Amino acid sequence: MKLNIALLAGDGIGPEVIDQAVKVCNTIAKKFNHEISWTSALTGACAIDAVGEPYPDATHEVCMAADAVLFGAIGDPKYDNDPKAPVRPEQGLLKMRKKLGLFANVRPTFTFPSLIDNSPLKRERIEGTDLIILRELTGGIYFGERGRKDNGNTAFDTCTYTRDEIIRLAKLGFEMAMKRSKKLCCVDKANVLESSRLWRETVQDMEKDYPEVTVSYEFVDAVAMRLVQWPSSYDVIITENLFGDILTDEASVISGSMGLMPSASIGLHTSLFEPIHGSYPQAAGKDIANPLATVLSAAMMFEDAFGLKEEAELIRDVVNKSLAEGIVTEDIAGKNKAYKTTEVGDWLAKNI
Ligand code: IPM
Ligand code: MN
Repeated sequence: MKLNIALLAGDGIGPEVIDQAVKVCNTIAKKFNHEISWTSALTGACAIDAVGEPYPDATHEVCMAADAVLFGAIGDPKYDNDPKAPVRPEQGLLKMRKKLGLFANVRPTFTFPSLIDNSPLKRERIEGTDLIILRELTGGIYFGERGRKDNGNTAFDTCTYTRDEIIRLAKLGFEMAMKRSKKLCCVDKANVLESSRLWRETVQDMEKDYPEVTVSYEFVDAVAMRLVQWPSSYDVIITENLFGDILTDEASVISGSMGLMPSASIGLHTSLFEPIHGSYPQAAGKDIANPLATVLSAAMMFEDAFGLKEEAELIRDVVNKSLAEGIVTEDIAGKNKAYKTTEVGDWLAKNI
């Protein structure tokens, strides 16, 4: 099969973790007789530095022409503490999501048997955790009207959702639940927010189309609590953009390191695959970042974008093997030997 992939390495540790994923993908391609054509493009702070714009049109064209996008991370500390910066790397990410129509962000949380004691949560609380948070990605407060009034002394951001935006996200959630344990949890703040009441009403209307799925409705504050108390009680969670942003960071620590969790963003055009961690600028260039989340994102890409399940399984198997044998970076090595980013990538490729 010919796989045409756009490669957006981005900032910070992005290029280093992406390099390892590319190594793994090329090895898989060789083994299974696929031909990958990679097209690199700029995004994030590096794109601002080069062309003054965090998601240049040229990058968008590369993404639109590709079958899948593999993305590293964006963000640079030189923008973080400057609320007056006229253009920010994160705007590139939001623009990319909007222009590619990536309305659904799939963020799984699962545990690795060999890492169960790395989690900040007790073993008995997290064993068996295997959940997916499906976060709406192109609406809500991220994209609503915002601004200042009263000579800059009052600021506002608005959260707006249309019924259609909720339906298309919830539909994916119901379909995902049908393929898993037929349990869906809709997370909102319907006791306070009108937009949440529309979410709840819309999802309730859809229940009749999926009679086998048991739907629960929970408030986001309660879910924030239950997610660390009994994560294994959840299966598929659907929620709006900001709640999903917060809950997926919370969920990511369950597995023991943020450096492990992959994600997929799907929607109207090319799907995008990326680790859920950020650009971790403190580690950039040091060859210490954990490449596994990006490698596992590549596995999701093989399976979801190309239907290549066996290839994806092999990647997951070899990642599990590296964890079991302790071929891991310093974030999870504990007192044992820590391997470099590139050493982990080389080991994975060799073992494929
Ligand atoms: C994420 C990130 C982004 C978000 C930032 C970098 C804009 O935190 O992908 O979760 O808030 O969506
Ligand atoms: Mn986030």
